Amino acid sequence: MSLIIPEWFHSSDLPLGVRFFLIQQAIGGHDGSMQSEEPLILLDQVSKAYGQVDQVASTLVLDAVDLSVDSGTTTAIIGPSGSGKSSLLNLIGALDQPSSGKVTVAGKDLAELNENALARFRRQTIGFVFQSHHLLPQLSVLENVLIGLLSEPNSGLQVGEVEDRAKRLLDRVGLSHRLSHRPSQLSGGERQRVAVVRAVLFQPRLLLADEPTGALDHRASHLLANLLMELNQEENMTLLMVTHSRELADLTETILVLKGGKLAPLPSV
Ligand SMILES: Nc1ncnc2c1ncn2[C@@H]1O[C@H](COP(=O)(O)OP(=O)(O)O)[C@@H](O)[C@H]1O
Ligand SMILES: [Mg+2]
Repeated sequence: MSLIIPEWFHSSDLPLGVRFFLIQQAIGGHDGSMQSEEPLILLDQVSKAYGQVDQVASTLVLDAVDLSVDSGTTTAIIGPSGSGKSSLLNLIGALDQPSSGKVTVAGKDLAELNENALARFRRQTIGFVFQSHHLLPQLSVLENVLIGLLSEPNSGLQVGEVEDRAKRLLDRVGLSHRLSHRPSQLSGGERQRVAVVRAVLFQPRLLLADEPTGALDHRASHLLANLLMELNQEENMTLLMVTHSRELADLTETILVLKGGKLAPLPSV
């Protein structure tokens, strides 16, 4: 980034620190940072084939996909069933590895992380919401949300603080009266809201959602979609989701279509 130093910077009587502060204000970096930010997600020629590559049975699901997603944005990926949307999301969430190409998330080349580093990366950077909520039936709503604490034993997190945040978020999604209920006592939409709270508990930078409203009726879908958009705003969480719903996709800033192994912007009509 090039910066033109204004005249007054050299001639002013103000202390140097104050002048720097004014410049930072003027260029609008809220933390005074002058660096231009790199994309949160960067896919470089990413391909994915299942089965052994030289066998006839191998299918190329993703074919040299490029993708760049900036921090704080909302993106929807749409495409026919079986086009590789879940495969793509799993690569970005470090749940699977590409056959070739490079996946960089939050500045980390995922191929360079060992098992421990990958597990830490998933815990700290990514929140995942799936079509099915994957809540544990024998645990209460609050326990289900706090389950991630089990994998953070040495994180230095204050359990009390995390629990407070969990309760605040559950209140935020209208479930404060359901803390001790079991998942089976909730509606589908309520369960999915619990799953969203669980996913964002540790304030991940990136929320990945794979058909999060796929199992919901229209009204519950609408509520959940709005919740995801609001979390993006309130928590500055980048949202990348796969959806069949054009209504949901239309809420996001960018819509991409995955088809024939290729990712492309939605053609405008
Ligand atoms: N683990 C796997 N092993 C073999 N084939 C798979 C695996 N996961 C997905 N596939 C195949 O890859 C293709 C894309 O699947 P998927 O990414 O789930 O698509 P979508 O989410 O768009 O419906 C499908 O043909 C599917 O059968
Ligand atoms: Mg899928």
